[in-house]
Amino acid sequence: MTARIIDGKAFAEAMRARLARQVAALAARHGVRPGLAAVLVGDDPASQVYVRNKEKQAAEAGIVSSGRRLPATTGQSELLDVVRALNADPAVDGILVQLPLPRAIDPQAIVEAVDPAKDVDGFHPMNAGRLASGREALAPCTPLGCMMLLKDALGSLAGLNAVVIGRSAIVGRPMAQLLLAADCTVTVAHSRSRDLPAIARGADILVAAVGRPRMVRGDWIKPGATVIDVGVNRVPADGGKSRLVGDVAFDEAVQVAGAITPVPGGVGPMTIACLLANTLAACCRRRGIPLPADRAT
Ligand SMILES: NC(=O)c1ccc[n+]([C@@H]2O[C@H](COP(=O)([O-])OP(=O)(O)OC[C@H]3O[C@@H](n4cnc5c(N)ncnc54)[C@H](OP(=O)(O)O)[C@@H]3O)[C@@H](O)[C@H]2O)c1
Repeated sequence: MTARIIDGKAFAEAMRARLARQVAALAARHGVRPGLAAVLVGDDPASQVYVRNKEKQAAEAGIVSSGRRLPATTGQSELLDVVRALNADPAVDGILVQLPLPRAIDPQAIVEAVDPAKDVDGFHPMNAGRLASGREALAPCTPLGCMMLLKDALGSLAGLNAVVIGRSAIVGRPMAQLLLAADCTVTVAHSRSRDLPAIARGADILVAAVGRPRMVRGDWIKPGATVIDVGVNRVPADGGKSRLVGDVAFDEAVQVAGAITPVPGGVGPMTIACLLANTLAACCRRRGIPLPADRAT
């Protein structure tokens, strides 16, 4: 048996096209366009690429970007002032502060300074708490993207056994909360879990969010399971080059699973699409406008 490949790239493209139509309809009916402010501190090349991609895809969807570029020498109080100004700016619906931040700045203090109603990354404790208590929340984009792929692949997830490997605040924990909200029976595994292969073998849905290349082997997977590989790991390749691999040994897993996300081209493209969906949702909620009926979030 060979697993069905879950094409996150195509799914994200279709989602962004739908969002562009919804943003255009919002502008036509209500005269508003969602605004997204990305704040980048310093000159980390990877962060620059991420922010540029987010702004490019936002613009393609008709979302207005108002980014701030700050030098690496920016202090915490200066960054807090920028965040507070964006909180107060009525044209800004979504604020994202690109992580990591320079060492001198406490990232948690910055995350907690963002207005929860504009927290389109879904990192604010208020949104984490709302998500954990089963209330409406802006959820973190990567797990949100995983959920969309899962619901598209499986339809109802009710009653399925889901195992999430990883318990970070931005991926593993919110992923577990979203699966629970979808009526799965959820197990969260981590670096102290005992007999991880046996835990994983109980999963109808296996989500790997660890950051360890090819850690999940083929014989960890229940035949027919749906495997979502969140990991993005750069490993050496032939000719002195490098390539991206996930947390799952794809060549082995594809022989056993029922469906599986590849790396790249699986979960990755969904993250920015969900950021745009969160920005549209934040815009509508803040202004008391009904959300589009076929909305993503
Ligand atoms: N596709 C995307 O858009 C996207 C977005 C975000 C992240 N990612 C990728 O997803 C992966 C995870 O990201 P993250 O931010 O959640 O990472 P993280 O904060 O480093 O968390 C990793 C988690 O994996 C657990 N872990 C580490 N080694 C383990 C082991 N040997 N066995 C079982 N669990 C283990 C850790 O357990 P403890 O809690 O016990 O330490 C921790 O909970 C990374 O590869 C990252 O690049 C991708």
